[in-house]
Amino acid sequence: PEAITVQELANRMAEKGADLVKALFKMGMPVTMTQTIDQDTAELLVTEFGHNISRVSESDIDLAIDVSEDAPDSLRPRPPVVTIMGHVDHGKTSLLDALRGTDVVRGEAGGITQHIGAYQVTLKDKSRITFLDTPGHEAFTQMRARGANVTDIVVLVVAADDGLMPQTIEAIHHTKAAGVPMIVAINKVDKYEANPQRVRERLLEHEVVVEEMGGDVQNVEVSALKKTGLDDLIEKIQLQAELLELSANPDRPGEGTVIEAKLDKGRGPVATVLVNRGTLRVGDVFVIGAESGKVRALVDDKGRQIKEAGPAMPVEVLGISGVPSAGDPIQVVENEARAREVAEYRQSVLTQKRTTTAPASLESMFSALR
Ligand code: GTP
Ligand code: MG
Repeated sequence: PEAITVQELANRMAEKGADLVKALFKMGMPVTMTQTIDQDTAELLVTEFGHNISRVSESDIDLAIDVSEDAPDSLRPRPPVVTIMGHVDHGKTSLLDALRGTDVVRGEAGGITQHIGAYQVTLKDKSRITFLDTPGHEAFTQMRARGANVTDIVVLVVAADDGLMPQTIEAIHHTKAAGVPMIVAINKVDKYEANPQRVRERLLEHEVVVEEMGGDVQNVEVSALKKTGLDDLIEKIQLQAELLELSANPDRPGEGTVIEAKLDKGRGPVATVLVNRGTLRVGDVFVIGAESGKVRALVDDKGRQIKEAGPAMPVEVLGISGVPSAGDPIQVVENEARAREVAEYRQSVLTQKRTTTAPASLESMFSALR
């Protein structure tokens, strides 16, 4: 059975802890603020104070959401999820754009692509790679801090003329902390001042030992501008992905992570979601962070409406009650009442957190470390 401290219950009820202690004493239970009481006693107290009882708890969420592990034989290969990181102006955007050009499907469609925070390229051999176009390692760290480890591989972009810069080094630290394999893309090699060997040497100082230096970190010289080295980079990503043997069960209720979310003027709240496992379908009822909803439409990175999205597929989700946060989980549940219940519970936890402790922002935590 669930137990809760008097203080915690007081916080949730927005009542004074001392008042609860007093009431408990009257009920014949002499307890202190830090002691725990069982759920029945808690409910009694809640009624005593005239609050509505909500029996939703973390364990109810587990019941509402299928969190079971996947059986090994249910796993199918899935595309790798690659995040591009690096110092500002080192060519992340340009490289992503150039890589997009390698998408055969996109090439055939030839339309204007809509920008979403994540996209997938389909290669000549029909294999796919998902790229996360996040604003950089800040978003990456934020997601990780929230327990959302969605990245399989990091491509570290280093401009060959500029070399290792503060954000390059930060990105190295974040990647190592996440335990994610890294591929170094030495960019702008078309420039006269480019010195790729110097980059490889400087990387040694940060314990990134590339193959030429006797290590096992893959690196590739590219020019996003001249579109050279791209096939090599793709090949190295595929090689790395093969080693990781990435798989997921597509045949279960959809589960994913919010990459970014916004309030769209015409369409309402829109979340770009990366499906982690299972399949997300139009009409599915879901919880997304402290919001809920029913999938009204799924839009892929090419702006097309699709019916369903499987593992490693980035997709825009429409039909949400409000705007969730980056890193929030999206989970398909059985019905709308359940979805609202879970969302409301999470909302109450959020409110409680806000009123009790003002959490230090990641920003301030990191600047404190510097
Ligand atoms: P985001 O932070 O994602 O916006 O990308 P970024 O700031 O890392 O770099 P961006 O792609 O915006 O490129 C910065 C500048 O470098 C632009 O002026 C690009 O044209 C230039 N650039 C990018 N790649 C190359 C390259 O391979 N060669 C040369 N000569 N210039 C490049
Ligand atoms: Mg830029």
